[in-house]
Amino acid sequence: MIPLKNRVLVTSALPYANGDIHIGHLVEYIQTDVFVRFLKMTGRDALYMCASDTHGTPIEIKASQRGIDPEEMVAQYNREHLADFEGFHIAFDRFYTTHSDETRRHAEAIFTACRDKGLIETREVELTYCEHDGRFLPDRYVRGTCPKCGALDQYGDNCEVCGTTYEPTDMKDARCVICGNPPVRRKSVHYFFKLGACHADLAEWVHGEEHLHETTENWIEANFLSQELRDWDISRDPPYFGFTIPGETDKFFYVWMDAPVGYIGTTDKFCQETGRSFDEYWKQGQSEGTTIIHFIGKDIAYFHILFWPAMLMNSGYHVPDRVQVHGFLTVNGEKMSKRTGTAVSARTYLEHLDPQYLRYYYAAKLGPTNADLDLNLEDFVNRVNAELVNKVVNLASRTLKFVDRRLDGRVGRIPEQDRAMLDEARARVDRIGHDYEDCEYARALRAIIEIAEEANKYFQDAAPFTSIKTDPEAARGACTTATNFIKLVAGLLKPVVPALVADIEKSLAIEPMTWEDLKTDYEDRAIGGFERLLERVDMKKVQAMIEQTRQQSESSGEGAGAGASRQDAGVADEQWKPLPIAPEIDIETFAKVDLRVARVLEAEDVKESRALLRLKLDLGDHERQVFAGMKNYVKPEDLVGKNVIVVANLKPRKMRFGVSQGMVVAAGVKGVEHEQVWLLGVSDEARPGARIS
Ligand code: MSP
Ligand code: ZN
Repeated sequence: MIPLKNRVLVTSALPYANGDIHIGHLVEYIQTDVFVRFLKMTGRDALYMCASDTHGTPIEIKASQRGIDPEEMVAQYNREHLADFEGFHIAFDRFYTTHSDETRRHAEAIFTACRDKGLIETREVELTYCEHDGRFLPDRYVRGTCPKCGALDQYGDNCEVCGTTYEPTDMKDARCVICGNPPVRRKSVHYFFKLGACHADLAEWVHGEEHLHETTENWIEANFLSQELRDWDISRDPPYFGFTIPGETDKFFYVWMDAPVGYIGTTDKFCQETGRSFDEYWKQGQSEGTTIIHFIGKDIAYFHILFWPAMLMNSGYHVPDRVQVHGFLTVNGEKMSKRTGTAVSARTYLEHLDPQYLRYYYAAKLGPTNADLDLNLEDFVNRVNAELVNKVVNLASRTLKFVDRRLDGRVGRIPEQDRAMLDEARARVDRIGHDYEDCEYARALRAIIEIAEEANKYFQDAAPFTSIKTDPEAARGACTTATNFIKLVAGLLKPVVPALVADIEKSLAIEPMTWEDLKTDYEDRAIGGFERLLERVDMKKVQAMIEQTRQQSESSGEGAGAGASRQDAGVADEQWKPLPIAPEIDIETFAKVDLRVARVLEAEDVKESRALLRLKLDLGDHERQVFAGMKNYVKPEDLVGKNVIVVANLKPRKMRFGVSQGMVVAAGVKGVEHEQVWLLGVSDEARPGARIS
């Protein structure tokens, strides 16, 4: 990893101001917060900047549907998000907004500089437009039948069933998701950033110094740099919530053009408020003493590793020194889902559990790669209890309670024979520090828990609770050594569980520890008394949290996916309207469709597909394999033994994973914000193979 300067600017991705923060987002904010807390502990001049990402179509649509100004809506989410983050002990130095004068000014400066360098040009394009709503429609706002495989109700850009990509107007029955009317094509003039012209500079940056972990470097090379880089459309037409492009009245910057500029705008605001020098952070040529690090998820790596450096390189701003990319959260091995209650919001979590359990668990599983991370709920409870509570909290509680009650609240000298052991443990501090700096948190925590284990064994073997009766000073010596271990372990864990460690510092009557303080002796003094520390995690509370999330999803009608706060979310539940009825057919046409009862014999997940389940069906006199696009809505094990309805005379279709012999029918709604699917019912007593007419 690239060596850090003394001045470090750290950011997390700016959360969209149109949905709740959930435990998936928290992977990132916890990872970043641990990093910043560690840097601050070592005395580095570290800043943690973040803001709300406020612009774009989904935010504009959601606000207009609620009948409020987008400004008002994003301000409300900004407050809620900040409260959620504080609840998880995430300590930004500034949490601002992209809808600010500072961000506008810097976005304009970047745009103008790039335009003056000939990197931006205008071009006429033809796009999908809804005449009813009077707006251009992003691909996610168009749904229809896949022109290739005929799968119903697919997005306007690609089919979740067969994977084909296409234009929305290639679909037979494209519909606007907002109003249900068919869209048209319409011309517009757009601004393009000529990314291709930056190819060589970007390749140099990606492969040059260690700006990226090699997993990310290789991914960018394979998917982008090995090919020609396509120009990037950076403008949008009204209605849009965003900044107008300089020299225009009704053209706006695309949200991804100004969103990362929010990192700069927020730093600018912070510098104005605190009298710091903005140029020392962001101005090329004046910021050599600064390291800039962005923490992001793998879904937005492409924006941060290609567009963002290209914009900065060409406008005199500091190009990031490191982009740290993490993977996605799964819960119990599956994508988070509201239906099963695993898409837990930050707020719901905090109603049931201490935030430090999650901070500890995520840190214990995080490394520097972009691998996904699983929150296994059983493992979560076991691991937090076995490590954090049993090995750290209990050692502190037992020892300090004993000193408080039995040794007049005083420790003595560290016995000579314990010195070597303590020094040996303290010698591991530097290694653990490097692990934090390299985002090797899992490795750091393993090493820390090992020290805690040794300390527990020491305390058990030295047995002050026995020696107190015969040799109270020997007992005091053992407790002094144990207390020095507690101070060491607590200090090492401070970036991860800051509130617990603050309580331990209080019990030890010491000032907040710096990284330097970890190795100093704690001798001949009175402790601060005994405080109740962190409790064990209770599985019942975890279950209550999941149940509450499930109920929230039922009452709000949101069926699947944790996608509600993604930028592609938009049409609120109360806005949902059924699609218009399709053109009439005669009875002969309908009679051609052979619907049959089929019993599900086997059902399994198609691992390589986002949507498909593979079903084996019994049709009375024969069996068939059918692929059904309902992975996100039903659990395969819930289907086995049930009756479903299949279109039995559908021409077999060759798919990437095998041949599909028919189609299972289901009812569904796909707004943008909610998705629900119901299998068509037929009594489970019905005989497989029976014709439905
Ligand atoms: N607004 C953009 C970022 C703009 S940065 C200039 C955005 N916002 S987001 O709210 O959708 O996501 C914020 C961060 O949380 C992203 O880095 C994203 O990768 C991360 N995560 C969102 N869901 C996640 C999981 N389920 N798991 C892990 N990280 C996740 O993207
Ligand atoms: Zn419409």
